[in-house]
Amino acid sequence: MGSVVLSNVCKSYGDAHVIKDVSLTIPDGEFCVLVGPSGCGKSTLLRMIAGLEEITGGQVAINEKDVTDVEPKLRDIAMVFQSYALYPQMSVRENMGFALKMAKLPKAEINRKVEAAADLLGLGVLLDRLPKDLSGGQRQRVAMGRAIVRNPQVFLFDEPLSNLDAKLRTQVRGEIRELHRRLKTTSVYVTHDQIEAMTMGQMIVVLRDGRIEQVGSPLELYDRPANLFVAGFIGSPEINQLKGEIVMQGDETLLRLADDSRLRLPAGLQVRPGQQVVYAIRPEQVNVVHESEHSGALKATITAIENTGSDMQLFCNTGGGAFTSVFKQRLDVQEGETVWLQPKLAGIHIFDAVSGQRVPECVE
Ligand SMILES: Nc1ncnc2c1ncn2[C@@H]1O[C@H](COP(=O)(O)OP(=O)(O)O)[C@@H](O)[C@H]1O
Ligand SMILES: [Mg+2]
Repeated sequence: MGSVVLSNVCKSYGDAHVIKDVSLTIPDGEFCVLVGPSGCGKSTLLRMIAGLEEITGGQVAINEKDVTDVEPKLRDIAMVFQSYALYPQMSVRENMGFALKMAKLPKAEINRKVEAAADLLGLGVLLDRLPKDLSGGQRQRVAMGRAIVRNPQVFLFDEPLSNLDAKLRTQVRGEIRELHRRLKTTSVYVTHDQIEAMTMGQMIVVLRDGRIEQVGSPLELYDRPANLFVAGFIGSPEINQLKGEIVMQGDETLLRLADDSRLRLPAGLQVRPGQQVVYAIRPEQVNVVHESEHSGALKATITAIENTGSDMQLFCNTGGGAFTSVFKQRLDVQEGETVWLQPKLAGIHIFDAVSGQRVPECVE
């Protein structure tokens, strides 16, 4: 059992509170991604799990054992960093077996473990090469091999793909996922890249400024962001955000934008007239409609059009500000033209403008 449990962990450097009361349970066998902007505390949190960072408050448990005061080498974890830090004068075999040699394992056993890991990673034919004779992707695999031979309870990855070019990154991403499917070792993976998080994580933890903003599966974060920060951080192109006020018209609740135009809202939201809210909708959650059917639609003037072949993106100005939409079909529209964008009701997210939190639905 290689679960990781953080209970109210805090970290300060003098007056700087870098990790603020983080509690998190990562079940055994999970692939958990910590994602957030640069400087939000991802590496610090990972290093606290590893024991490389003294913690200011709270507890860390690995495999149901409190390891808060246990030194790193006794925590049964293995870490893979952005810089692979291979020993340049040692062969792949020696690099991968180094920790086992230090632990004084018999030579035959070291060889067996190194060869098994090399097989798993497709490094078998490279065992006698030096790091300088490997590609970036191969070096990264050696760094993973070094972690695998130790058969730890938990793998910790700190932005391991940052030094690879885009194409290789996608490939190694797939390899790490495949490795996890085979080994099922609990993994904690840090990245600042939301696409990497969305494609790798089963469980994603969004961090901002030393706090957890939301924990969920990729689609939970995408479809039901808990707050404006997560809504804006996950998804590319970014979710559209229009500021407005809740108004009543007859018995319908509508959103009034700055230019006094009105948008329809999904039924059953816990809002009150006069409440300042942010109306958020993802770029693919709108249709273009004819003027005659524009009831509750958004009047938009196209400022730019980008065609990627598979997608058509419209950049528009609206009564609520800039708005981006993405279409799979090719539309017959021109820059400068005015169109009506009809948001799909199921794709509308409403957040309180002051707290930034998602407005809940009424419970019956
Ligand atoms: N040794 C240190 N002393 C003071 N501040 C630090 C130290 N290490 C990290 N920090 C600060 O802690 C914050 C989080 O850093 P880090 O965990 O490296 O962020 P991330 O990995 O998310 O980019 C940053 O504001 C950073 O400046
Ligand atoms: Mg970092």
